[in-house]
Amino acid sequence: MAEAIAEGARKVHGVEMELKRYEAPQRLVDFDAIIVGAPTYHHTMTNNIRKFLEEVAFHDVNLKGKIGAAFGSCGWSGEAPGLVLEVMENKFEMEVLKRPLLIKYGPDEEGLHKCKGLGKTVADRI
Ligand SMILES: Cc1cc2nc3c(=O)[nH]c(=O)nc-3n(C[C@H](O)[C@H](O)[C@H](O)COP(=O)(O)O)c2cc1C
Repeated sequence: MAEAIAEGARKVHGVEMELKRYEAPQRLVDFDAIIVGAPTYHHTMTNNIRKFLEEVAFHDVNLKGKIGAAFGSCGWSGEAPGLVLEVMENKFEMEVLKRPLLIKYGPDEEGLHKCKGLGKTVADRI
C-alpha cells in the first residue's frame, strides 16, 4: 500500500516523496505532508505506531499546519488509521484528510488504485 501511495504522489510534478519504515521525529519538520500506515490489531494501532506518535509528542516536534493522512490494512473493524488521524489533528494540529484509507487484508488492483489516488491527493495539496 505504501509503495502504491508513493507512486501516486511521485506523479505530481515538483513533489518529492520519501518512503520510510521509520523516521526520526525531529526530521518530520522537513516534510510538508506525512502519511502514516497503521494496521489494526485488537481494535487499535500497533505498539510501534503508538511509540512513534509518543516520540513526536515527547520531543515537542512542531507539525502544525502540515498535511496528514493515514492508511492501513485491516480484517474487519480497522480503527488504527482513524486513531492516527485523530492524534494528528487534535494533538499535532495538522491539516488531515478526514477519511483514512482502509483495505481488507491486502490491496487488489482496485485497492492499489485507491492507494495511488491517496498519494496523488496529498501531493496535489502540497
Ligand atoms: C492477533 C490479530 C488481531 C487482529 N485484530 C484486528 C482487529 O481488531 N480489527 C481488525 O480490523 N483487524 C484485526 N486483525 C486483522 C489485521 O488487521 C489484518 O490481518 C491486517 O491485514 C494486518 O496488516 P499487516 O499484514 O500489515 O500487519 C487482527 C489480526 C491478528 C493476527
